[in-house]
Amino acid sequence: MHKKERTLAIIKPDAFESKCVGQIISVIEKAGLEIINMRLLRLSNNEASEFYSEHKSKPFFPDLIEYMTSGSVAVIELEAYNAVNLYRDILGATDPSKAAEGTIRKLFASSKQRNAAHGSDSTASAERELQFFFG
Ligand code: CMP
Repeated sequence: MHKKERTLAIIKPDAFESKCVGQIISVIEKAGLEIINMRLLRLSNNEASEFYSEHKSKPFFPDLIEYMTSGSVAVIELEAYNAVNLYRDILGATDPSKAAEGTIRKLFASSKQRNAAHGSDSTASAERELQFFFG
């Protein structure tokens, strides 16, 4: 038996700047993912650093934190059968130039950093990330 699964999406500050938040949510809903919970917030430096702690040693980390704290984000709990992989498929590759046609990042991202949205990369990450924002 398949079981419904949950995952975390974050709509990032560049999507708010380019005013495509609604269009991203529309892609998510059309893919059959159900919105269970959603919050609009502005991440602090500490929150962004803790959320992305696995990238702490990467050269892009300081820029990533600056960008993720530069404006509003929407954190969204999504549910579907196979939600983690389903959402990753419609999100597309981190680098928008490598993302498949029709994916969120192909449609709305402008660079590897300013890539419009985030998605949990595994069921374990989804659990940790949902706990982080929704307790
Ligand atoms: P996300 O899926 O949220 O996970 C980590 C984030 O770091 C990623 O999306 C990008 O915003 C950013 N990122 C990943 N790789 C790079 C890179 N090579 N250069 C700049 N930013 C990156």
